[in-house]
Amino acid sequence: MSYPFQIQSLDQYKQDYQRSIEKPEEFWLSVADSFFWKKKCQAGDKVLDWNFTEPKVEWFKGAKLNITENCIDRHLDKLADKPAIIWEPNNPEERVRVVTYKRLHKRVCQVAQMLKNNGVKKGDRVCIYMGMVPELAYAVLGCARIGAIHSVIFGGFSAQSIADRLDDANAEFIITCDGAYRGAKDIPLKSVIDDALIGNKKIKKVIVYTRTRTPVSMIKGRDVWWEDEMLHAEDQLEHSGEFNFPAEEMDAEDPLFILYTSGSTGKPKGVVHSCAGYMLWTTYTFVNVFQYKQGDIHFCTADIGWITGHSYIVYGPLSAGGTSVMFEGIPTWPDAGRFWDIVDKHKVNILYTAPTAIRSLMSFGSAPFEGKDLSTLKVLGTVGEPINEEAWHWYDEQVGKKRCPIVDTWWQTETGGVLISNMAGITPSKPGWATLPMPGVQPLLVDENGKEATEKNEDGFIKGNLCIKAPWPSILRTTYGDHERCRQNYFATYENLYFTGDGALKDEHGNYRITGRVDDVLNVSGHRIGTAEVENAINMHAGVVESAVVGYPHDLKGQGIYAYVIYNGTHGDEEMRRKDILQTVTRVIGPIAKPDKIQFVSGLPKTRSGKIMRRILRKIAEGETQNLGDTTTLLDPGIVEEIRSGKI
Ligand code: WTA
Repeated sequence: MSYPFQIQSLDQYKQDYQRSIEKPEEFWLSVADSFFWKKKCQAGDKVLDWNFTEPKVEWFKGAKLNITENCIDRHLDKLADKPAIIWEPNNPEERVRVVTYKRLHKRVCQVAQMLKNNGVKKGDRVCIYMGMVPELAYAVLGCARIGAIHSVIFGGFSAQSIADRLDDANAEFIITCDGAYRGAKDIPLKSVIDDALIGNKKIKKVIVYTRTRTPVSMIKGRDVWWEDEMLHAEDQLEHSGEFNFPAEEMDAEDPLFILYTSGSTGKPKGVVHSCAGYMLWTTYTFVNVFQYKQGDIHFCTADIGWITGHSYIVYGPLSAGGTSVMFEGIPTWPDAGRFWDIVDKHKVNILYTAPTAIRSLMSFGSAPFEGKDLSTLKVLGTVGEPINEEAWHWYDEQVGKKRCPIVDTWWQTETGGVLISNMAGITPSKPGWATLPMPGVQPLLVDENGKEATEKNEDGFIKGNLCIKAPWPSILRTTYGDHERCRQNYFATYENLYFTGDGALKDEHGNYRITGRVDDVLNVSGHRIGTAEVENAINMHAGVVESAVVGYPHDLKGQGIYAYVIYNGTHGDEEMRRKDILQTVTRVIGPIAKPDKIQFVSGLPKTRSGKIMRRILRKIAEGETQNLGDTTTLLDPGIVEEIRSGKI
C-alpha cells in the first residue's frame, strides 16, 4: 500500500500545512480519496459544517463507509498473508500469535455474526472489558463491522466505575474475559463484571472469552462463552457460501465509539468519535508522524483501554495496512528487559511508549539491554505526558543509539489522534517539545481572558493556555448523552475555541512545549484522573468528613496524588485508616487512582465563601514552605501552618 498523503520533506510539510489551513475542505477531500467508501462525498456535498458555539462539527456528512473495510477488506488483495497483528503474550514462554489480514477478516466477521446472533444491532452500545488479547481487537472491530458503538473500559477500573459507565452509555451488551494476565498477577475480570452487574437490569448478554480459566459464575440466559458462540458463527458463515459478514453501511458522522475519560468534574465523560473523521485522522497521523513504510513493524505499548491503543494499535496501523505488535504484559516482568526482548524477537521498527515507562526502565540501568539486538529500530515515540529531558536523552542514547528520531506526540482522548508532534526525520525534534502542529491543526495560546497570549516567560517563550481554533477531522463530536456537558467542558471557557485544558509554551519558530494540565486533572503515569473524582471516592469512606486532592511532582509517575483528609472516625490508628481509605478508592475507581500520600488535617484552607484554596495545598504538597502566596482571604489562616507542619 502506498500513501499518497505521506509527507516527504520539511518543505512539503510547510506547503501541506498551508494548504490545509487555507483550503481545509479541499485538502481533506484529497486525503479521503485514499480510502474505501461505500458512497463518496459527492460534488455539492458539504465537506465540513461547523460552529464551536453549539458545538457542531460534521465532516463528509452523507458519505458512507465502514471503517473495518478500510482496516481489513481493502488489504486482502495484496496483504492477505501479511501480519496485521503480532501478539506477544504476558508469559514469554507462551506461543506468539501472528494474525494475518486474512485471519483478521475471518475473526472479525465471526465476531460480527456472533454479536448479531446475540441481538446486537447498529447503534447499540457494547462495553468491552478485556485483557490485551487479540480477541479484544476482534471485539472492537466486530462491533465496528455491524455498526455497534464500542466502549472499551481499561482493565484497571473497578466494578463501581464499570457500573457507572454502563449506566451512562445505556449499554446492553458486554464482552469480557474470565481473567487477564498482567505480569505476575492475574486479574479476575469476569468477577469484577459480576460485581458491576449486581442490580443491573439492562444488560442482556455477557460474552466471556477464556484466557486464564479462573472459575467464573455463568448466569443462565445472560452469560455465554465466546468460544461456543464463535464456533456457531463460524458454522453459519461457512454455510453461507463466501465467508463474509457484510459490513454495515455507516454515515461518515455516525458514532464509532465512546471512550470514557476524566475531566475536572467528578464524573468521567463519554467522549464520542465519529467514523470517517476518526479513520482519516488516525491513518493520516500514523503514516506521517511515524513515517510508516509498508512492512514496518510498529509496537505501541499502550493498552487498548486507552485512546492511544484505539488509535495506534488498532485503527491507525490497520487502516494503513500495517503490522501492529500487541503486548499483553508489562515492561518489567519477568524482568526489565521485556520491551527489548520484544523489539529483538519481532524486529520492531517503531517503538511508541510513555515517559513513565521510560523513566521506570531507566532506573534499571543498562543490564536489561545486554544481548538484545535493537538495530531494527528506526523511530521512537512518546505520548501521554511531558517528557523530561533526562528521560528523552536516555531514550535517545540507550534505546535509539542516537540514530532514531524521537517523536513527542501531544494529543488527547478528545482529539482522536496526534495534533502536535514532530514527524520522524521530516521535521526537527527538540527535547521536551512536541514542536509543530499537524496539517489541519491551528493552535492558539491564550491568556485568562481568552486573548491571544503575548506575555513571555524568563526564557523568552510565550506562555498560555492551549486552544485550537478550528476543527480537524477527528475532534470529539459530543460527550455521550449530554451535549451541553461537551460544550461546557471544551467550548465555553473561551469563545469560539476548543480548550484543551493544557498549558503550553511557544518559541520563536512556532514550536510548542506542553507544560501540563491547567485544570483539576492529574496525569499519573500518563493516566488522566480528575481530582474531584478521587475526592468523591475518598469521601465515600465512612470516617471521612471532607477531602482535597492535588498533584505533586513524582520522579517515576510524573505526578503523584496527594490527599488532605479530615477524618472523624474512631477505628484503627492512622496507618490503618490510610489503608481503609486506599481500599475505598480502589473499590470506587480502581487501583490507578490510589493516593500516594494521605495527610490527616483538622481543616482545609477555605475562602470566606467556602471555596478550597487548592493553590496553597498544591504548594505544600510540592514541598514549598515559604512562598504560599496571599493567605489573607482565608477564613482561618491558622490552618495553613498546621497543614504545612504536618506535611508528609
Ligand atoms: C497529556 C493521551 C505532554 C496532556 C493521548 C493531555 C501530553 C493529556 C502529551 C491527554 C505530550 C499527552 N506531552 N503532555 N506529548 N501527550 N499529554 O486523554 O496533559 O489520556 O491533555 O490522551 O495527556 O491524556 P489522554
